[in-house]
Amino acid sequence: MNLLSTIDMTRDGIERLLESALRFKHGDDLSKPLAGKSVALVFFNPSLRTRASMQVGIYELGGNPVVLEPGGTSWTLEHREGAVMDSDKTEYVAEFVRVLERYCVAIGVRTFAVLKNWQEERTDPVLNSFANYASVPIINLESAMHHPCQSLADMLTIREKLGSGRKRVVLTWAWHPKPLPMAVPNSFALAAAQMGHDVVVAHPPGYELDEELMTRSRLFAHESGGNLEITNDIDAAFSGAEVIYAKSWGGKEFYGNTEQETITRAKYRRKWIVDEEKMARTNDAIFMHCLPVRRNVIVTDRVIDSAASVVIDEAENRLHVQKAIMTELLGG
Ligand code: CP
Repeated sequence: MNLLSTIDMTRDGIERLLESALRFKHGDDLSKPLAGKSVALVFFNPSLRTRASMQVGIYELGGNPVVLEPGGTSWTLEHREGAVMDSDKTEYVAEFVRVLERYCVAIGVRTFAVLKNWQEERTDPVLNSFANYASVPIINLESAMHHPCQSLADMLTIREKLGSGRKRVVLTWAWHPKPLPMAVPNSFALAAAQMGHDVVVAHPPGYELDEELMTRSRLFAHESGGNLEITNDIDAAFSGAEVIYAKSWGGKEFYGNTEQETITRAKYRRKWIVDEEKMARTNDAIFMHCLPVRRNVIVTDRVIDSAASVVIDEAENRLHVQKAIMTELLGG
């Protein structure tokens, strides 16, 4: 079994995972299901939270993390089927995975979108190439489309701060000097919908998240007693919100043309920022962000340093949720 996204998880399955994470957090579960085992962590991109929390989590479960950075601490990696490898790639993903699983009981993979070709990148080609060749579980540590470890930690944070009922949860786009991938917002909207929240996704025109995923998410929300609404009106979105989740992401139509996007998005800088004025319109909302965050660009100092901000607790929850995920995938 893999964890590539939460899309195949039931609400009950997510609830069970959050309960397990809370047992780890409160010291009620001290089990060591990874004793004597190693887990590979493959990072194509930089990381603070994911890398540190996975390494610590594996250690606390009794295991040994093996961190690899293709093109850095391991060979450059080719994932395209049938590729003629006469350029800069040294090793093919099939051999990489098949060798690694002789040593390790699972492989975590971080591989961001490169924002070149939306239709291709929405299929998560690198992550899925790992899953295709692996006979051990693959854990998505953020791919082009999904960041399930983050979204599950986010769901835990909302539950801890506001209780387990239905909440008005607003995912708001924010201006950023360059286009970013959309794994975090896709996964957040999906998981919040699966948990039955009233999800509002606010973004300027042209910044739609993956339509197919949003359609699925809306169905999940309805099945769980919630809703999913999409708006271009940031002021209306903030009214009555109980959770403000800020994130910037790139427009799909600009994949392959980031220069044009930078020009296009400039007009949204002043309006699409989380500040005190907007937070005052909410229903005492908590402020969330996956981090890293650019201060006074995505969110003002006064908001991120306020009592409403839960970003550090949110980051801590990555550790507890990932221990629960690894226990579920590898504990048997
Ligand atoms: N939120 C998150 O995944 O942080 P890192 O990129 O630092 O791992």
